[in-house]
Amino acid sequence: MKRRHFPPVLLLLLFVLSLSFRRCQFLPRNPSKSGGDHLLRHLAAIDVGGEQILSDAAALFANASITSFPSIGNHHRFLYLRVPFHNSSVPGPPKQRAVSRLRVPFDGIPSSAALLSAFRASLRRFLLARRRLPVAGVLAELPALLGRHRRGRFPTCAVVGNSGTLLGSGRGPLIDEHDFVVRLNNARVAGFAADVGAKTSLSFVNSNILHACATRSAVSVAGCGCHPYGRAVPMAMYVCQPAHLLDAVICNATATPESPFPLLITDVWLDALCARVAKYYSMRRFVAATGEPASNWTRRHDERYFHYSSGLQAVVMALGVCDEVSLFGFGKAAGAKHHYHTNQKKELDLHDYEAEYDFYRDLQTRPEAVPFLDEAPGFKVPPVKVYW
Ligand SMILES: *[C@@H]1O[C@H](CO)[C@@H](O)[C@H](O)[C@H]1NC(C)=O
Ligand SMILES: *[C@@H]1O[C@H](CO)[C@@H](O)[C@H](O)[C@H]1NC(C)=O
Ligand SMILES: *[C@@H]1O[C@H](CO)[C@@H](O)[C@H](O)[C@H]1NC(C)=O
Ligand SMILES: *[C@@H]1O[C@H](CO)[C@@H](O)[C@H](O)[C@H]1NC(C)=O
Repeated sequence: MKRRHFPPVLLLLLFVLSLSFRRCQFLPRNPSKSGGDHLLRHLAAIDVGGEQILSDAAALFANASITSFPSIGNHHRFLYLRVPFHNSSVPGPPKQRAVSRLRVPFDGIPSSAALLSAFRASLRRFLLARRRLPVAGVLAELPALLGRHRRGRFPTCAVVGNSGTLLGSGRGPLIDEHDFVVRLNNARVAGFAADVGAKTSLSFVNSNILHACATRSAVSVAGCGCHPYGRAVPMAMYVCQPAHLLDAVICNATATPESPFPLLITDVWLDALCARVAKYYSMRRFVAATGEPASNWTRRHDERYFHYSSGLQAVVMALGVCDEVSLFGFGKAAGAKHHYHTNQKKELDLHDYEAEYDFYRDLQTRPEAVPFLDEAPGFKVPPVKVYW
């Protein structure tokens, strides 16, 4: 069906419904009252967003369809991912809702049925991961996720955030000295090497980055053009919307030995752990700043839009695989740009950066106080140094 056949009201409705497919915008409602660290932990552990993303993934797994149409002149194909949705007050069969639309090459891409089957296999892995492990087991599993043995930890790691405070820092050479350097959301290094370094071992992105990149490049670049640090540098991605797993399937399907698409998808349990940590620190700040009960936290933070920033998951991942972790490019300063590599003026309201900085401060100075990580059996937070 062509888009222009949808009346505007229906399009608006589709948009509202599509919000349920975005992990980054859901948090629990109505946490109970009163204070205390125990209560904060309890409230922060409620992860409605995590449940939501799993149910979205389950709906896609059960009912998604993939269709493709050649463009005029057969230059490429338009590929649609759809799921049925049913409004019980409207009689008749469910409507098909497009969740994703991509341009892909005309030839050399698997059939829609084969793509759907690979997409469902990916959803299945994603869904099973949550059942396999309690959140507490996350950190013990991380080395395996990165393809290393338990003992094969990296001696020194640098996680490089994208804060404008890096500009003029001259920290590039220090960053590059680390054994394992993680960069975030494909921030470019060209032109900034003196301040941010040039070495990249792992490119960490949220799935919105891959989706934007696949939308742009799936049709023209084998394996998609999503590796600004070089084809050999693997990408780790956390999934904001389960539909983005299709982008990964497509990029993988068009990859060639010369143009590979090395990707590691981080599991929902790591996501859930990070969501808890971020919410805990955000609530703690809120209670300290306002004197209001933690249950009033939603007055400050719109629960539909609150989410931790990508950097936080990269930092937690580094805690699981490194003997020493250094953080660069987190934090802000008067007059510093938000990102070193963009002209974005304002930080996003959906993150509570100050709360995340509290977390990093605790990691450095009193790791025993960090909640949730201490639930992982045998896990010890490695020494962390924050270069503000
Ligand atoms: C799949 O679609 C059927 C029929 O519309 C519906 O009953 C079922 O609940 C859907 N499954 C999921 C997991 O959403
Ligand atoms: C279902 O349809 C009714 C009537 O068109 C509308 O008022 C209602 O908001 C719809 N509900 C959802 C969840 O879309
Ligand atoms: C990636 O593509 C290769 C070959 O095309 C296939 O064997 C493999 O299963 C794919 N991996 C995923 C995760 O889809
Ligand atoms: C908590 O929020 C409610 C409104 O949502 C407000 O009426 C109440 O005063 C707040 N509590 C405190 C202690 O400020």
